[in-house]
Amino acid sequence: MAPSRKTHAIVLASVVLLSIPALLVAAEGQTAQLTIKADQGKETINRNIYGHFAEHLGHCIYGGFWVGEDSSIPNTRGIRNDVVEALRAIKIPVLRWPGGCFADEYHWKDGIGPREQRPTMINTHWGGVTENNHFGTHEFLDLCEQLGCEPYICGNLGSGTIEEMQDWVEYITFDGKSPMADLRRKNGREQPWKLRYFGVGNENWGCGGNMRPEYYADQYRRYQTYVRNFGENRIFKIACGPSGANYEWTEALMRELVGRRRPMMNGLAPHYYCGSGRRSRSATQFTEVDWFWQLRNALRIEEILNGHIEVMDKYDPQKRIAVIFDEWGAWHDVEPGTNRGFLYQQNSLRDAMVAGLTLNIFNNHCERVKMANIAQTVNVLQAMILTDGPKMLLTPTYYVYFLYTPHHDATLLPTELTGPDYAFESDKLPALNVSASRDQSGKIHVSLVNIDPHNTLEVTSQLQGATPKRISGQVLTAGEITAHNTFEKPGVVEPAPFRDAKVTDGGFTATLPAKSVVVLEIEG
Ligand code: AHR
Repeated sequence: MAPSRKTHAIVLASVVLLSIPALLVAAEGQTAQLTIKADQGKETINRNIYGHFAEHLGHCIYGGFWVGEDSSIPNTRGIRNDVVEALRAIKIPVLRWPGGCFADEYHWKDGIGPREQRPTMINTHWGGVTENNHFGTHEFLDLCEQLGCEPYICGNLGSGTIEEMQDWVEYITFDGKSPMADLRRKNGREQPWKLRYFGVGNENWGCGGNMRPEYYADQYRRYQTYVRNFGENRIFKIACGPSGANYEWTEALMRELVGRRRPMMNGLAPHYYCGSGRRSRSATQFTEVDWFWQLRNALRIEEILNGHIEVMDKYDPQKRIAVIFDEWGAWHDVEPGTNRGFLYQQNSLRDAMVAGLTLNIFNNHCERVKMANIAQTVNVLQAMILTDGPKMLLTPTYYVYFLYTPHHDATLLPTELTGPDYAFESDKLPALNVSASRDQSGKIHVSLVNIDPHNTLEVTSQLQGATPKRISGQVLTAGEITAHNTFEKPGVVEPAPFRDAKVTDGGFTATLPAKSVVVLEIEG
């Protein structure tokens, strides 16, 4: 489903607006050669790579997803309709909850039963505010049903008990008669829910208990023992992974948890945030030095991923353990005047670049990466959506997710690329970043990110093993590197039809604007 008709109208208007500044800044074109091996696809890009994360943090849950049944903001059982509609349009496949750091101090039994009787707690990590527990297990699983996505719950290993974790899984998934299943029924839900993804703690090297990897591995072994499969439900167990390039953490966990016969985990969850700019940490007030710095840090995720995969391959050459990259994204200063603990930041064309190139990297590593969850869905860090009371806007990052939907569950096509560098001061980065896939109807999609803010890029591509007949595309760009959408001007950065691609004999050519994300569709 495409964004709403109103959004579509703004998209068309932006074609005209975008073309003028784009022409003004276009300098001498550079060239790149791309080979797409359409005859060699074998790995599937798991749609869960396009997953999301929602924590009890600032206005992600409260105000972002949850407004309550009595709100004047249109809602279904307390959940905002506009937010659900927007996330359905990007085919949100999976949502991680309740944290984050919040997960390791969350006691799920406080979030069930009549809302007015639920106890409160202090959200110590995020602003020290009082959490009223109005959004709990039932509300989260209702949200996932409304979104049509899989739930991914992160359990409390840091400060919770094993019994508590065991009870949560029983409460959600047990069909028969049991204390927890009966409690669920008393709270209005007769049938169990299906729950596949369960995290056993979060960042237990830090906010989740400051543990050493060996200590966490032992704790993980105990806790995961009681995370049961009831009936037909099968839990995919996810262990806390390393921070950034901490390969020792990965080494210890792989050594302690992956035996020869049956590994004790199905997934390992690294986290990496690529920070902000060098001179400025503002999401929207920055210059080229900050653009370059952030994109270099974003591209570093590939080196980090390769480092962890190398360790994992040593213990698990059969690739039974998935990388579940369940937190990643850009982290800027909060918007002036907002609570520092709420991590509310704007989102510019630079964030769209971060998303486009990171998703390309995950696609290209889909043999091992089976899920990723950008932080965080609404009003927190690199969000898809910002809200202000009844108002809602879609960020440039949202539109990258929208443009990349054809990659969901498509077959990855290997690519080879030779292209120019984007040079800045005495440093340089590859200007172009790409991934390609073939969907079930046979269409090929190619996502290209040109991070050079000055130069257009002429791409000449050969399609090995396919004969292209038609090509079309969409582009996300803007006149300024800092361009972003506001509640007053929500359509500054939006996708527009891309007309600078042509089929050639055995491939295509495309002229990519400076600082753009382009997604091409090729039919044979
Ligand atoms: O996403 C914000 C925080 O970043 C999460 O709570 C934590 O896991 C990470 O450090």
